[in-house]
Amino acid sequence: MKRRYDNSDSIGPAQSKQRFNSHDGEPESTNNYARKVADHYSARSNKTLKEREASPIIHLKKLNNWIKSVLIQLFAYRGDSVLDLACGKGGDLIKWDKAKIGYYVGVDIAEGSIEDCRTRFNGEADQNAYRKKFTFPARLLCGDCFEVRLDKVLQDDAPFDICSCQFALHYSWSTEARARRALENISALLRPGGTFIGTIPDSNVIIKKLRQAKELKFGNNVYWISFDEENAQKKFRSQRPFGIKYTFHLEDAVDCPEWIVPFDVFKSMAEEYGLELVFVKNSHEFVNEYLKRPEFAELMHRLGALGDGSQDQSTLSKDEWEAAYLYLSFVLRKRAQPQSHQTTANRAKRGQMHIARDDIINIDQ
Ligand SMILES: C[S@@+](CC[C@H](N)C(=O)[O-])C[C@H]1O[C@@H](n2cnc3c(N)ncnc32)[C@H](O)[C@@H]1O
Repeated sequence: MKRRYDNSDSIGPAQSKQRFNSHDGEPESTNNYARKVADHYSARSNKTLKEREASPIIHLKKLNNWIKSVLIQLFAYRGDSVLDLACGKGGDLIKWDKAKIGYYVGVDIAEGSIEDCRTRFNGEADQNAYRKKFTFPARLLCGDCFEVRLDKVLQDDAPFDICSCQFALHYSWSTEARARRALENISALLRPGGTFIGTIPDSNVIIKKLRQAKELKFGNNVYWISFDEENAQKKFRSQRPFGIKYTFHLEDAVDCPEWIVPFDVFKSMAEEYGLELVFVKNSHEFVNEYLKRPEFAELMHRLGALGDGSQDQSTLSKDEWEAAYLYLSFVLRKRAQPQSHQTTANRAKRGQMHIARDDIINIDQ
C-alpha cells in the first residue's frame, strides 16, 4: 500500500438545515469503534466454495446477493464509472462485470478485505481460478471512507455514474460528523443525475423488535441484537439520531458494534446534499416485488437462495427470512444541475487491469 492524502477542510452545504443535539462519542472512541469494525472484517478470511456452501446462513447470503444483483441490474449501465464504498472482499465484482461497467473504484477500511478484493479482481483467489478476467480497469483504496475526504483522493477519477454502499453505511452513524462525511463524499463524487444504491439495517424493524422484546436483546438461531443499558427505556429522541449503538451478531458473518440509521433522518439529510430518494424497500417487500419479474425470478433460481427445487431440497429457513427482514434497500439520485458540465469522460485513466499489492492506496491520515 502507498501514499497518503491531506484530509483537511469541510465540504458540502455551507449551512445545514437540520441541527441535532450532540450525542456523539469522543473522537478517540469513534476511532476505536471504526478499528474494531475493521479488525472484525479483516479477520474474516476468504472461504472456499465448499466452506461457503456449509454456512448456516448460506441461503440468506444468496438472497442478499440476489438483492444486490437486482439493484445493480436496475441502475447500472454499460460503461458506467462505479464507486463501491465499503467494497469488502469484492463480492460484487462479478455483478458489476455482468452490468458491463467501464471503471471500478473500491474502498474499504479492512486491510484483509481489500487484499482479498485485489486477488479476486486479479483472478488469483481460489474460487476464481477458472474465471475469465474482469473486463473493466479498477483501483482499490484502503481507509475509512466515513472519515476521509474522498473528493480530494478521487478528484481525478470523479465524477462517478453510480455509487454503491452495501451493508455498511450504518457504520457511519456513530456520529453526526461521520454520517455527514459519508453523504458529502457520495454527493461530491457522483455526477448530477448519478445514482446511489445501498442496503442498511431497517431501523423501524429493529426498534419495533426491541420494544416487543422483554429484555434489551432479541433474535433467533441465526442472529441476535443487543442494546446497552442506556437504552433501557427503549425510547429514542428524534433530536439525537446519531450514536445509537447496538451489538449485532449474525452467525458466520457479523459480530460487531453497529448504529441505528433512522431512515427519515437519513432521507432528509441526504436531501441537504442533493441526494433525492427514488425508493426505499424493506428486503421482504423488495423480494416480493422483484420476484414477480421473470428475469429476476430466473436469477433467484440460478443463485439458489430459495433452493433449486430439484436435487437440493434445502431452502431459506424461517430464521434466515426473519434476519432478511432486518434490512432495507434504497436508491437515491443526485439532483441534476442544468449548468453543470461534469462528464465521466476522464474515467479509467487511472485504473488497472491487474492490481499489485503496492497499488492499493492507503487513504487514512
Ligand atoms: C457486511 S460487509 C459488506 C461488504 C460489501 N459491501 C458486500 O456487500 O459484500 C461491511 C464492510 O464495510 C466495511 N466498512 C466498515 N466501516 C467502514 C469504513 N468506515 N470505511 C470503509 N469501509 C468500512 C467493512 O470493512 C466491511 O468490508
